[in-house]
Amino acid sequence: MTLDVEFILVFRKGGPRRFPRGDGRRLASSYTRSERDEWFSQIWEVRGERQARPDLGRGTAAFPAEIPRRLIRMFSVLGHTVPDPFLGTGTTSAVAAELGRNSVGYEIDDRLRWVIGERLAAAGVPAARVRFVSR
Ligand SMILES: C[S@@+](CC[C@H](N)C(=O)[O-])C[C@H]1O[C@@H](n2cnc3c(N)ncnc32)[C@H](O)[C@@H]1O
Repeated sequence: MTLDVEFILVFRKGGPRRFPRGDGRRLASSYTRSERDEWFSQIWEVRGERQARPDLGRGTAAFPAEIPRRLIRMFSVLGHTVPDPFLGTGTTSAVAAELGRNSVGYEIDDRLRWVIGERLAAAGVPAARVRFVSR
């Protein structure tokens, strides 16, 4: 077992987000008080993800789905678009779909195309909505 520590940097563009009073999408995206207390804290303890992919000839450096799940719920509401410039296995986009968010992602390693496609299909994203573009 390895004990890894990773840092999450949070940047904000502009001031705090404003929502109209009673905004339906915001209300439908709310989290509980105990989720808030745990998530808006300095240290998260999250179990790691299996990395081995002998079929790819490389590790994937995938992170646990719980990481983007929390961050997406903390910083977006239903219908928002989540960007991921380093898709890897597509964890962030799969979780975004699971949470009713859209996503846009980039991945430079073409061998991960099918991994990402399968991951998104399992998350219920129709193949027609996934577009791969070569370098
Ligand atoms: C740490 S992995 C991401 C793992 C991902 N979070 C997951 O859970 O599967 C980083 C990925 O970024 C990709 N990458 C590196 N440089 C890139 C670039 N310039 N443009 C797009 N993807 C890039 C790598 O091929 C690698 O798959």
